[in-house]
Amino acid sequence: MSALPGSTEGTAVTGLDSSPVEPVAADLPPLTEQTRLECRELMARYPQARSALLPMLHLVQSVQGYVSPEGVALCAEELGLTKAEVGAVATFYTMYKRSPTGRHIVSVCTNTLCNVLGGQRIFEAVKADLGVGHDQTTADGSITLEHAECLAACDYAPVVTVDYEFYDQQDVESTRELVAALRRGEKPLPTRGAPLTDFRGVSRQLAGFSQHADAEAARAAVDGPSAGVPTLVGVRLAEERGEAAPPMQAPAPAPTPDVDEPRAATRPTGRTGQAPEKEASDARVAAAGNPAERAGAKTADPDRKGPSRRRTGTRATGTDTPATPAQSGSGEGPAPSTSPSPPTAQREV
Ligand code: FES
Repeated sequence: MSALPGSTEGTAVTGLDSSPVEPVAADLPPLTEQTRLECRELMARYPQARSALLPMLHLVQSVQGYVSPEGVALCAEELGLTKAEVGAVATFYTMYKRSPTGRHIVSVCTNTLCNVLGGQRIFEAVKADLGVGHDQTTADGSITLEHAECLAACDYAPVVTVDYEFYDQQDVESTRELVAALRRGEKPLPTRGAPLTDFRGVSRQLAGFSQHADAEAARAAVDGPSAGVPTLVGVRLAEERGEAAPPMQAPAPAPTPDVDEPRAATRPTGRTGQAPEKEASDARVAAAGNPAERAGAKTADPDRKGPSRRRTGTRATGTDTPATPAQSGSGEGPAPSTSPSPPTAQREV
């Protein structure tokens, strides 16, 4: 295993960029045989084992508080993937943390609607109180603060979540009180949803495991308020006006393939009656913003006459940049590769 250029010695690097992932701290709980067995339990829930990667990442995060290099290695080993492949997934989603997280994660929405109603002011106030910025954790390990993109609760803006549970219609003072209570070890009830747990607890839930002793306890825990008045305004207005969405049409039964029929006769068609690839190609051409893009899009037309769309010769076609004399040596050298550069996610970690 080698570190990328520029990364410090011994610092693991995963995923699409070279931001360092902190190594496992000495006092972190280890990933045990139990964690491995639970990973396998998750894998068994899917027809394709690798589909379990997302919950497995939540699982390792529930043990160590972040997706550590050790957690990446465990997932890779169990799924038969490279650590780079696992890292590419773990670094794509913001819910997977790359450094140890505090007991609670406080997310302040600073997206459009929350922002105009004070989201940024809330974030700045909490940031000043805690003395930490975005994606940073207080020295006592109680709180990780982050600003968040839309939390899908615009009808309750400005919104703050703690461990992904909603605290609706916040303002600076209510959020400061909320965070102070969390630091005292209290767990104020969220406005909606389940009672508060902590970051590792909710990570375990997201992995698909219950924290509760039995089904009844689990049901009681999530039996909180869900949809509220602002969410249901549209439904109420529709009822008052006697409006309703048209009933959904049952999907047409799939045609039974006729074994004697030529393949072409059963070829699937798109909405316009053409083959889906043709429709997609036409749409790309129509969406092209300039002649060069249009020309490039036309090269992918499945009905296009002429040379094969897959370049097999030595000359570049379409809108590709031709090889420079310096690259080719003769000015007529090999065309640029038609394959994209290997994604940086394939870096060795
Ligand atoms: S903008 Fe904040 S929840 Fe949508």
